[in-house]
Amino acid sequence: MKKKSLLIEYNEYDSLQEISLKDRELLERAKEALENAYAPYSKFRVGASVLLQDGTIVTGNNQENIAYPSGLCAERVALFSVGANFPGAVIDTLAIVAKGDLVKEDAVISPCGSCRQVIFESEKRQTAPIRILILGMDGRVIEFKKSTDLLTFAFGL
Ligand code: THU
Repeated sequence: MKKKSLLIEYNEYDSLQEISLKDRELLERAKEALENAYAPYSKFRVGASVLLQDGTIVTGNNQENIAYPSGLCAERVALFSVGANFPGAVIDTLAIVAKGDLVKEDAVISPCGSCRQVIFESEKRQTAPIRILILGMDGRVIEFKKSTDLLTFAFGL
């Protein structure tokens, strides 16, 4: 038997002032997108913005349904929109912003397990990592370099 361990690294910025203007703009687009979320059941709005390598920004937001599992998270709405409308595009960054009192004041809304699996497959398709940028509820910004920092032992690895 071999005992093994994994270490993940990520960056935490105290506030938006610490990140680049470009990243601030990307988070701003996600913030705008969350206003159009359809979240009458959870009242928890999530916005996602995807920066493509050519500079295009594609956004998404959570879309709920009275048959709860039929809804979809903001991240997947945005990523599938890229797949549908920009086939072959290379994704550089996925930015996420949330609003609502479902979570604690200092929570960081990191993507759910299903979204992580979808980010992972997007990386596989483009054979390049996707950076993940999250604006915490308290103004902190968290940055991951790739999906497997959030999803170790991803299915299909
Ligand atoms: N949600 C997202 O859109 N992204 C996440 O990362 C977590 C959860 C949505 C799903 C649902 O519409 C609402 O937030 C409450 O779970």
